[in-house]
Amino acid sequence: MEQITLTKIFPQIIVHVCEPLVFLLYSEGPKVTYVPPPPPDNEEAIFAHYQTGINFDKYDTILVEVSGLDPPPAILTFEEANLCQTLNKNIAQAGYLKLTPVQKYSIPIILAGRDLMACAQTGSGKTAAFLLPILAHMMKDGVTASHFREQQEPECIIVAPTRELINQIFLEARKFSYGTCIRPVVIYGGTQTGHSIRQIMQGCNILCATPGRLMDIIGKEKIGLHKVRYLVLDEADRMLDMGFGPEMKKLISCPGMPSKDRRQTLMFSATFPEEIQRLAGEFLKPEYLFVAVGQVGGACSDVQQTILQVSQYSKRAKLVEILQSIRDERTMVFVETKKKADFIATFLCQEKIPTTSIHGDREQREREEALRDFRFGKCPVLVATSVAARGLDIEKVQHVINFDLPSTIDEYVHRIGRTGRCGNIGKAISFFDSVSDSHIAQPLVKVLSDAQQEVPSWLEEIAFSAQGIGFSNPRGNIFASVDTRKVSLEQRNEIVGLGKFL
Ligand SMILES: Nc1ncnc2c1ncn2[C@@H]1O[C@H](COP(=O)(O)OP(=O)(O)OP(=O)(O)O)[C@@H](O)[C@H]1O
Ligand SMILES: [Mg+2]
Repeated sequence: MEQITLTKIFPQIIVHVCEPLVFLLYSEGPKVTYVPPPPPDNEEAIFAHYQTGINFDKYDTILVEVSGLDPPPAILTFEEANLCQTLNKNIAQAGYLKLTPVQKYSIPIILAGRDLMACAQTGSGKTAAFLLPILAHMMKDGVTASHFREQQEPECIIVAPTRELINQIFLEARKFSYGTCIRPVVIYGGTQTGHSIRQIMQGCNILCATPGRLMDIIGKEKIGLHKVRYLVLDEADRMLDMGFGPEMKKLISCPGMPSKDRRQTLMFSATFPEEIQRLAGEFLKPEYLFVAVGQVGGACSDVQQTILQVSQYSKRAKLVEILQSIRDERTMVFVETKKKADFIATFLCQEKIPTTSIHGDREQREREEALRDFRFGKCPVLVATSVAARGLDIEKVQHVINFDLPSTIDEYVHRIGRTGRCGNIGKAISFFDSVSDSHIAQPLVKVLSDAQQEVPSWLEEIAFSAQGIGFSNPRGNIFASVDTRKVSLEQRNEIVGLGKFL
């Protein structure tokens, strides 16, 4: 999570007059000096992509439901979207031939200027579903980057919960805006603030940011908000929960930020608990559209899920046994704490399994290096905390191992979604310790059976007895695969619910 910054604690005037002094007096630890290396800027690197998998065409068989008033019809092809030539060229160069379901529905909705909450399974192309129509709008409006102004006024702000994810979204934005006058910029914590400011000053139309750094930069008056037309919350349920929710509320009430009637607000995730959907209402116009591809909160059907009953004490031996049997295939191992991530990574290295780790206590430089080593195959095993659970799109991740199960089922769905992306097949193995994991047995049984996976009978029994002794579902009544407005709206006959295969 981003650190709380001084600008939020002190009134702007104080920060302006004596910023260095305030920093010295109140900052925790040494000043961050890390400047991330610039991403490669040759065309080959910008458009590098991996192949869609054998199940890509199966996306077409997923039931899609759109709710809300007067949704525009879905499109079937990129041509129907009527995007400009440069965008079409970039789409082709990115290797996109066919739209995924979330793209078929979301692109026309965003092009029509509507607010949107979209839920679709992990790895099914949500990023392009918001980037392409936003870029199309901006191109139509003749948006161009203005260089070297003290204060920049971006037309679009995209927020995401982790530094690595927002950087990935930025790279996608850079790819799709290639050859246009639109300039995306990324800023995130753990890097030198001066570097973020310099990036912004060179021109900024699409600002990709983690919440802490964004609020920091707004406080420093390096960006003005009154031109914001598009606000995107990726991993929206995470952005609105207790961790980031207050920061997001501050963002929409910042001076200059257009009210929800005067901006387009777009939310995307693979999971959308009902209580979070209700919170989202504050950000969206009342007539927003809700797109559900498949079951809200459902696991990706291309991930083969296995649950093994393993006690705390046997986990390490079992992990080594599995990793030795899968050899060099790229694997993410999720653990619950930062300390454990270090411990397990060291242990695996001692077992001669090339391993790296990523978690919130590592320096940003180390986090990026770990991800690079994993992405490019130097270390085929990445031990991670939930900081790497959401959104990351890494080629050839064939396995996810939940060394520790997460505390919520949503987190489980996101973690296993690091494999089985874009129609490729993946495998997820989870260690279930009946002493500590009984609370998740029930929702796990539901997620497994919804994804047509085998449910072990021992797990069913635990789930059943957990029910008996009153364990509550940690996700609440999430399994209704619907827009939370639906019941009340239906009663007033105002809902348009379309179940469709396209
Ligand atoms: N229409 C398409 N054709 C080919 N590849 C695509 C298409 N749309 C997206 N992809 C690719 O699929 C991969 C997954 O996309 P993306 O990261 O947007 O998924 P996501 O739905 O956001 O997943 P998550 O829920 O994990 O964040 C990316 O490598 C992306 O480039
Ligand atoms: Mg995503």
